[in-house]
Amino acid sequence: MPVLLLEESEPTQPQLSPPLKWAGGKRWLVPQLARWWRSHRRTRLVEPLCGGLAVTLGLRPKHALCNDVNVHAISFYRWLQRGFVIEMPMENEKSFYYTARARFNDLVVSGGCESHEAASLFYYLNRTGYNGLCRFNRSGLFNVPFGSYGKIRYTRDFRPYVAAFRGWRFGSGDFAGIKLKPDDFVYADPPYDVEFTQYSKETFGWSDQERLVEWLARHPGPVVLSNQATDRVVELYRRHGFHTEIVVAPRMISCNGDRTPAREVLATRNLGTAFIADAAPAASGVVRAH
Ligand SMILES: C[S@@+](CC[C@H](N)C(=O)[O-])C[C@H]1O[C@@H](n2cnc3c(N)ncnc32)[C@H](O)[C@@H]1O
Repeated sequence: MPVLLLEESEPTQPQLSPPLKWAGGKRWLVPQLARWWRSHRRTRLVEPLCGGLAVTLGLRPKHALCNDVNVHAISFYRWLQRGFVIEMPMENEKSFYYTARARFNDLVVSGGCESHEAASLFYYLNRTGYNGLCRFNRSGLFNVPFGSYGKIRYTRDFRPYVAAFRGWRFGSGDFAGIKLKPDDFVYADPPYDVEFTQYSKETFGWSDQERLVEWLARHPGPVVLSNQATDRVVELYRRHGFHTEIVVAPRMISCNGDRTPAREVLATRNLGTAFIADAAPAASGVVRAH
C-alpha cells in the first residue's frame, strides 16, 4: 500500500499585529526570515534588539527570548503576557496628550515606570505621538511631540497576546548581557548605522555596531542580522565571516519623513542546509539588489 508522507505542520495560530508602532519595524522581512527559521523552529528564537516585536510575532516560535534596552517597551510586553486591558481614557487631542506625557514622565522619575498605568500611558503615547517615535532626552524623559493624526484606532484589550507570549521571556538591557544557548536561532536588528538611533536615552554608535558583530560572531548557532547597507556595515559583517546579501526595503518610519526605499543588508552565519532557500525566488516584498 502506498504510504503518503505528510510534512509535519504547525497548528494554525491567529495572526497578531505588533502592538506598538516602531521605527525600523521588520514586518516586511518576515517571509524571508521564515524560510531560514523553518528548519530551526524547534529551537529558541532570540531577538536581542526586539523593538516592536514584528519579527517574533511574525515567526511565532514556541520558545523565545525577546530583549531590548528600552525598558518601557519590555514592561509593556510583560503586561501583555499577563493579560492587559487599558482602562484609562485615550484621546487624540493635543492638551490631553501633553498631560499624559507629563504623567508618564512623573512615573519615570518616581520609579513607577513598570506599573499598569505607565504601560497604559506608554501605549497611548506611542499611538498618539509624532510618527510613532520613541525618543527620550538625556534624563530619560519621553519628549516626542503630539502627532496630529486625523483618526486613531486605540486597542484596549490585549488579552489575545497571552497565548502567543506564553513560552516567551522578556529581558531589558544591553544585548551583551544575554546568555545564549548554543543552538539558539538569533535574529538581530540593531538601530541603523547612519540614521535616527535614539530609541532610548543611550545612543547606538559605531562602537556598538562593532560590539554587536563580535558578540554575534561568537555564537555557534544560526544567526541572521539585518541592518542598513552602508559600505562600512557590509564590510564589517563580511570581515567577521558572515554571508551578506543586499535587499531593497520599504522605508516605514524615518525621523525626517523620508519614505523612499532603503538598501538593507542581510548577514547570515551557521544556517546549515536552510541556505538552500537562497536558490528560491525572493520572498514577497523583498527585492534583491545587485
Ligand atoms: C531597528 S529597532 C528593532 C526593530 C524590530 N526588529 C522590529 O521589527 O520592530 C532596534 C532596536 O534596538 C534597541 N537597542 C538599541 N540599543 C540596544 C542595546 N544596546 N541592547 C539592546 N537593544 C538595543 C532599540 O531600543 C530598538 O528597539
